[in-house]
Amino acid sequence: MTGNRTFTMIKPDAVENGHIGAILEKITAAGFKIVAMKYTQLSKRDAREFYAVHKERPFFGELVDFMTRGPIVAAILEKDNAVDDFRALIGATNPAEAAEGTIRRLYATSIGENAVHGSDSDENAGIEGAFHFSGREVF
Ligand code: CMP
Repeated sequence: MTGNRTFTMIKPDAVENGHIGAILEKITAAGFKIVAMKYTQLSKRDAREFYAVHKERPFFGELVDFMTRGPIVAAILEKDNAVDDFRALIGATNPAEAAEGTIRRLYATSIGENAVHGSDSDENAGIEGAFHFSGREVF
């Protein structure tokens, strides 16, 4: 059982493809309450910092380029067991492996351009939420 908040981003591919509304509808229909949300664009510096944990990975440069190429929607979501339930709702990182009906299965195009982010732990949900919503008591 995880805590009651998680952090998400609707990534540039899903924004470009016009899926913001459909993805937010799936999120709220699944019982998540949106407690903070913004439409924004990451700088290279922001993306390098946000994804610092992946900096040694071969796809890091590609990931930074992708996440900065257009606007995103960042949000903090509330629900019992938020981290685990949200990861179930979005599906596997690779959309080809994501379960039927999940957000990535429906809207992602590849392992890199996978439509949405979901925090992988309560600790990271707090760090990631604070990264985007500093100055607010969000966690
Ligand atoms: P996410 O899990 O939200 O955060 C890390 C991101 O790195 C992941 O989504 C993908 O967008 C990206 N990523 C993970 N694995 C690969 C890969 N093999 N090739 C390219 N990008 C990847």
